[in-house]
Amino acid sequence: MLNTRSISKAVIPAAGMGTRFLPATKAMPKEMLPVVDEPAIQYVVEEAVAAGLKEIVMVTGRNKRALEDHFDRAAELEDALEKNGRLDLLAAVRESTEMAHMHYVRQANPRGLGDAVLTASAFVGNESFAVLLGDDLIDPRDPILPAMISAHEKFGGAILALMEVPKSEISLYGVAAVAQIPAEPGFENVVRVTGVLEKPKAEDAPSNFAVIGRYLLPAEIFDVLRETKPGRGGEIQLTDAIQELTQRSDHGGPVHGVIFRGRRYDTGDKLGYLQAVVRLAAERDDLGPSFRTWLKNFVRGLQD
Ligand code: G1P
Repeated sequence: MLNTRSISKAVIPAAGMGTRFLPATKAMPKEMLPVVDEPAIQYVVEEAVAAGLKEIVMVTGRNKRALEDHFDRAAELEDALEKNGRLDLLAAVRESTEMAHMHYVRQANPRGLGDAVLTASAFVGNESFAVLLGDDLIDPRDPILPAMISAHEKFGGAILALMEVPKSEISLYGVAAVAQIPAEPGFENVVRVTGVLEKPKAEDAPSNFAVIGRYLLPAEIFDVLRETKPGRGGEIQLTDAIQELTQRSDHGGPVHGVIFRGRRYDTGDKLGYLQAVVRLAAERDDLGPSFRTWLKNFVRGLQD
């Protein structure tokens, strides 16, 4: 039977150590790195909320207290802003507290993404839920979750976000083997996923469809994760548990993919992070005009 109840819970794994950004992340979670003037993680929470997912659980670990503080009230700061009449800033500060119901669970020993998701099982209970990875920043103008939710309502099971990537990048991702489904109006971007492989070599990849960090998963995934043995890198891989679901047409399966063709930035990678900051700053109404003028001159200078 399809579980067509609409999804309200999102799991955001945020326990990683952020080694790629050391030393910036020595005492600060990588999720708090600013993308213009908002921490990267706030874009992800905003994306979930915009899709109607208002119960959010973050899977955190050591060194992550700043995340909880960011989404909590800051009474002294708010009082000071109010007294000084800085109501625009006051609204910005309050927004992160008011937009969603935030919950936190701690992953004692980071043992991989699959284990992080399993840590949230008591919070999620027996319903389908979303997983949003903080390193993937989906441009707010190109949302993917609504199409994934529609696909879930139609097909049940698990829904992955897929993106075509060049061969040279395929080994950075989970990669899906896909099959066409009969044409359906409104579901032109949906494919059946017949298998997934975590970070294969380019020559072993079943396609060029990479799994990007958005998943809708059935509660059955938890039973599968409990049985999933450490895989690539000695970690419990979410990809391996999803592979198991592809083999079941009920009890968790089937698995479908929604192909994403919008703008996405990998803020877990230095180059991707810089691209996100420059692009989002250049396109902002307030900063954009003067930043673009400067940027054009700067780029001209590089070409000389
Ligand atoms: C994780 C997943 C991988 C997925 C990727 C998307 O890898 O394990 O399957 O393709 O996120 O960003 P990570 O980037 O955390 O190494």
